[in-house]
Amino acid sequence: MDGAYFLYHSIGMYPGKARDLAAAMAEFALTWGTADDAQWGWVLPRRQRFIDRWRGILNAAPGSVTTCENVTAGLHAILAALPDGHLRGRSLLVAADCFPSNHFLLQALAPRFGFTLKTVPLRQGAARVEDEDFLDAWTPDVGLALLTWVSSTTSARIDLARAVAHGRRMGALVGVDITQGAGLLPFDVTAPEVDFALSTSLKWMCGTPGAGVLYVSPRLVPHCAPQVAGWFSQDNPFNWDIARFAYAPDMRRFDSGTPGCMAAIASLPALDWHAGQDHAAIRAQNRRLTARLFDIADALRLATLTPREEERRGGSVMLRLPETVPAAQVVAGLRAEGVSADHRSQTLRLSPGVLTTEAGVARLEAALARLLRG
Ligand SMILES: Cc1ncc(COP(=O)(O)O)c(C=O)c1O
Repeated sequence: MDGAYFLYHSIGMYPGKARDLAAAMAEFALTWGTADDAQWGWVLPRRQRFIDRWRGILNAAPGSVTTCENVTAGLHAILAALPDGHLRGRSLLVAADCFPSNHFLLQALAPRFGFTLKTVPLRQGAARVEDEDFLDAWTPDVGLALLTWVSSTTSARIDLARAVAHGRRMGALVGVDITQGAGLLPFDVTAPEVDFALSTSLKWMCGTPGAGVLYVSPRLVPHCAPQVAGWFSQDNPFNWDIARFAYAPDMRRFDSGTPGCMAAIASLPALDWHAGQDHAAIRAQNRRLTARLFDIADALRLATLTPREEERRGGSVMLRLPETVPAAQVVAGLRAEGVSADHRSQTLRLSPGVLTTEAGVARLEAALARLLRG
């Protein structure tokens, strides 16, 4: 039933994922459970390989990426590390269709860090914030803008180059949440040049929970003083002199105490798999199957929330189900037919990836038609 898997916006899958993950965990268990001194020599290089795989995806320089538990935690780490006063008295700009968890964090931090949270609203009845509205709100009072490259509820993709160019004119720092596009669509932290980027490994990268990544531009890193300073945020973690703490010169300054390497180790087989793939072919398959999903939506007279132009969207097609048919019921009905999808309110979210097949799409179409007929 793999061919009808449409949950790449949530958890990515690739052939052999369960086997690879089990092997990596078994190897970890053996290493960690053997009474010798080989543990860290096995664990830390794997964590570094995970970081280097991500550097490849981001085209990021050595020493500019580290791990974080999730996107929200990574966002907290960078905001708390910015030079004193950068945000105080200024605005932090974000769109109302950002990932809500980021917005929850920003709301909590605004009074503590002394910035005004400026949230660009949706237009009446709209599902996504228009690029124009975001840029109109991006005035010189904005000290930092958090962009969401691809939306998790519409799969709309912003015009990143235009947004970053505007941000530079306004003198703001620019961060981007690339979670919904990373690993499927090409991304490069240097073109356009962003100040920081955040992602998880869960989606198109097919990794595990806990394997978040934070990139900070080498220009910005030396100005950052991460709040959670610890032994691993030093150049030499084995400096135990409490009178001689100093941050590492590079992104390692964002590491704190003993790194929780498990998620990186568990995600590494998926990242290794991904690195060996023909990325253009994966994208072409996604484009072929998402085009089919638009045809299905049209045939079933379902409104699409995702822009049709390929340049304006990520890897998903989000459909608005009629109010008369509860989305939870549709998702349960699809599940019963071996089709994996999910919903946010009445929005049905469909994301075809490497395991999704034409036959799977046909099964979805037949099941959806039946469920909508009632
Ligand atoms: C756009 C976007 N950002 C972030 C996340 C995840 O955030 P976190 O890792 O903090 O749970 C998701 C998950 O679906 C997402 O779609």
